[in-house]
Amino acid sequence: MHFHVMTLFPEMVLDGLRTSIIGRAEEKGCISIEAVNIRDYTLDKHKKVDDYTYGGGAGMLMQAQPVYDCWQALEERIAQRKGAKHRTRVIYVTPQGEVFHQKRAAELSQEEDLIFLCGHYEGIDERVLEEIVTDYISIGDYVLTGGELPAMVLIDAVSRLVPGVLNNGESAQTESHANGLLEYPQYSRPEIWHERRVPEVLLSGHHANIEKWRMEQSLERTKERRPELYEAYIKSCQILQK
Ligand code: ADE
Repeated sequence: MHFHVMTLFPEMVLDGLRTSIIGRAEEKGCISIEAVNIRDYTLDKHKKVDDYTYGGGAGMLMQAQPVYDCWQALEERIAQRKGAKHRTRVIYVTPQGEVFHQKRAAELSQEEDLIFLCGHYEGIDERVLEEIVTDYISIGDYVLTGGELPAMVLIDAVSRLVPGVLNNGESAQTESHANGLLEYPQYSRPEIWHERRVPEVLLSGHHANIEKWRMEQSLERTKERRPELYEAYIKSCQILQK
């Protein structure tokens, strides 16, 4: 899977993602991450990429031309590699998008290429968004200073679902949100720590009992911490039973 990030701060994206599991996945060739500097495409002789907003208001807006030319160059390169006129999905990370969730991560992990567009200042001229953006995604109902961190969050969440990225193939299936519930609590050695014992059932070696205990814990934890997820899960079970 190939990730392409259009940004004013390429080092931020690459430095943040080329570590740990995602860095290793790139070295192994499971994924590739490139960050393209939008500023390299401005036709302004002072390398400017932003300007005042029509109608007034605070702050500057990223202009359409450098964003569009950057996208066009990327899109052409991707099409050349694929040998086809294929339109790659362009995700604009913005607080005005649909809030990101695990199902969307799973769906995006099926794509061969994904382009991310990171905004700065007060945003990006609407006209270029209309022409190139296919998906508007937010990482939560709060506002960050730029799109780089959200793009990195999405790339991390999507990458770990790409085959070969995680060592243990099972872990992506049993973790929180994979089945609509939060994950059960987990324990490692020692058996007693600060006078706290590992639950007896986990030491029993009885797999059916362990599975049952874990499911109960998942349900309890989800009900307590994320009641809306719990309700949705119960509803989906009722529909399946009908
Ligand atoms: N850019 C600024 N804030 C954001 C958010 N919450 N999600 C996605 N992109 C953003």
